[in-house]
Amino acid sequence: MEDTKKIIFSGIKPSGDLTLGNYLGAIKNWVKLQDQYDCYFCVADLHAITVRQDPKDLRRRTLEILSIYISSGIDPEKNTLFIQSHVPAHSEASWLLTCSSYMGELGRMTQFKDKSQKYGESIGAGLFNYPILMSSDILLYNADLVPVGIDQKQHLELARDIGERFNNLYSPTFTIPDAYIPTSAAKIMDLQDPTKKMSKSEDNPNGYILIMDPVEVIRKKISRTVTDSIGIVNYSDDQPGVKNLINILSSIKGISPKDIVKNYEGLGYSELKKDVAEAIITELSPIQTKINELLSNKTYLEDIYKKGAEKANYVANKTLRKMQKKIGLIPR
Ligand code: AMP
Ligand code: TRP
Repeated sequence: MEDTKKIIFSGIKPSGDLTLGNYLGAIKNWVKLQDQYDCYFCVADLHAITVRQDPKDLRRRTLEILSIYISSGIDPEKNTLFIQSHVPAHSEASWLLTCSSYMGELGRMTQFKDKSQKYGESIGAGLFNYPILMSSDILLYNADLVPVGIDQKQHLELARDIGERFNNLYSPTFTIPDAYIPTSAAKIMDLQDPTKKMSKSEDNPNGYILIMDPVEVIRKKISRTVTDSIGIVNYSDDQPGVKNLINILSSIKGISPKDIVKNYEGLGYSELKKDVAEAIITELSPIQTKINELLSNKTYLEDIYKKGAEKANYVANKTLRKMQKKIGLIPR
């Protein structure tokens, strides 16, 4: 039975403290999928260093993310949880795939284009190559499905192209993965500017909710959410702030946006905001307690990421050896 399960791969990079967007867009889905699939979830530390990281913060966040995975309900016994840099095959495969990737396709990635606007000529080469490393992550495990938020869809399409190209150039080697994108939580928006994605790299902390935000902070940030002057709870693109709040509630409670709108007939934004805040608090509080417990038990965490790396190294190295052989590198 075990062998017939399809494979899932996903990861989050420890480049900032995780937000509600990461939780609802990615982690909460992983929890739902873990029983049906053979899952690999990594902390993508090599992706985080595409921008400058303080070494101390990087170490702290890497372990924090691992604790968040476990505390959110991802069972370390059933799934393979590991730290990306502990599996050198990711970096090696990334070079091999770099050699069959095109500048053109990498330059077309919107994430890269946005960042190059910001940094100009001094944009790091790592940000350009970023999607190749992500392709390696996914292809090495022959993942069938990659659960991510919608911002990663383009990178996933590139991973498919890179995988298909290798299969055609040599011979079938990789499974070509599909994206798995949640419906209401595909893109949780910034609370202060609902036209932008909620992001941990945003300057204004009122725009995002962190998984570790204290209860009072969550209440305050939600009550300050930018809405509109229409005053009626609708699920509409003309009311992006309200739509975002409905999406958050929908994703936490598992109720469709349409049914949520019905529940607020005759009620205003303040009732909606209050309920959204309480739903987030009810969801995150027990997770926060567990995270703090785990973070004080470093040996338990170490045990998990070491075991995870062992399994991941075994699987990834098998694929890497195949790649090397097909390319014409002499076996060691
Ligand atoms: P990152 O923080 O960029 O490593 O993203 C990790 C995962 O969280 C990816 O699957 C993203 O698509 C997802 N994600 C990040 N921000 C959001 C958001 N605001 N809404 C939905 N998903 C998100
Ligand atoms: N690049 C992803 C992000 O920023 C994180 C990530 C790294 C990832 N490797 C992955 C996601 C492999 C899915 C599969 O969101």
